[in-house]
Amino acid sequence: MSIKDIVIYGTGAIGSVLATFLQLSNAEGEKNIHLVGRASVLDSIKENGLTFIPYQETNQQNWITTTGFNYYTNIQQVPRADVIFCTMKAHSLQRSLEDAKDLLSSNPTVFITMNGLGLAEIVEKYLTREHIIECIVLFPSKLENNIVRNTGGNSTIIAEKNEISKRLIPQLFKPDTLDIQLDKNCKQRQWQKAVMNIGMNAISAITMKTVGEVLATEPLRKIISQLIQETFLVSQKEGINLPEDMEEKFWDFCSKDPNHRPSTQQDIKRGKPTETKFLNGYIVRKGKEYGFATPANASITTLMDIIEQKI
Ligand SMILES: NC(=O)c1ccc[n+]([C@@H]2O[C@H](COP(=O)([O-])OP(=O)(O)OC[C@H]3O[C@@H](n4cnc5c(N)ncnc54)[C@H](OP(=O)(O)O)[C@@H]3O)[C@@H](O)[C@H]2O)c1
Repeated sequence: MSIKDIVIYGTGAIGSVLATFLQLSNAEGEKNIHLVGRASVLDSIKENGLTFIPYQETNQQNWITTTGFNYYTNIQQVPRADVIFCTMKAHSLQRSLEDAKDLLSSNPTVFITMNGLGLAEIVEKYLTREHIIECIVLFPSKLENNIVRNTGGNSTIIAEKNEISKRLIPQLFKPDTLDIQLDKNCKQRQWQKAVMNIGMNAISAITMKTVGEVLATEPLRKIISQLIQETFLVSQKEGINLPEDMEEKFWDFCSKDPNHRPSTQQDIKRGKPTETKFLNGYIVRKGKEYGFATPANASITTLMDIIEQKI
């Protein structure tokens, strides 16, 4: 069956990146690309087109502007869907799926292109597992009005390899558009990325420090070390084989970009909810299920809840 209707659900930075490459791959206009998002974002794209700026690209001739999308502020207005990319933040997923119940009843394939652990389990309440494709987004990006820019060197998306993704990805993205790789060990890589987020995001948001400043603060390094060890224990129970030297990999990775401020800091500054519940909070929930304590992740999750005024 060929794909006709593609939905970007939660059009923000990542949704705009995907929309750009989906539309670039849709030169004949045979597919409908439906953007579901907030009016402020959609109005700007509708008026000016969606412009993608590759990493550090100053030559405007190499910027890519795409148009021709359909726009909706409510998923219930979308007429049909073969494929849905969930590109909202993790804390919006459950409510958003509830709103999309009708659309999901026709069994579209859902790509989860979000950070966080346990998200497929949430989608599984609405769809059978083979229709859910988990992805790891290694494509730092920022959306301002109608302009989305790649803010880091990476520009890759890794998607779970199964029969459906093998069939759909070539139909969605033409070669030489988006670097999207299929991987049977996607789950493992997802956890590796989660370790980076679990170790750094909340800590940097609580302390409002750059990554480099966190790394230079010995007591914070000790807490991070505990966060990673607890994650390692849970991952083993989950059947995930994280590398033995995961913590070293974490320090190496973080030291490459000392001036970086994880977006969790921005979320706190703007009074927005963070994804901590689906990172550190997930480790706490799973630890409880497996019968052991995860005190470092529990404390960080509680502190973030207080900062986010949830308690
Ligand atoms: N940006 C990056 O560099 C990057 C890189 C890798 C992974 N990720 C992950 O990718 C995911 C998306 O990140 P992002 O930066 O693209 O987030 P984002 O810019 O906040 O985009 C999500 C957009 O969807 C909207 N939204 C949420 N629920 C909606 C609904 N039911 N209907 C319509 N609109 C809805 C949000 O509005 P509200 O804000 O009003 O809810 C927001 O405008 C996150 O899990 C993030 O961690 C991001």
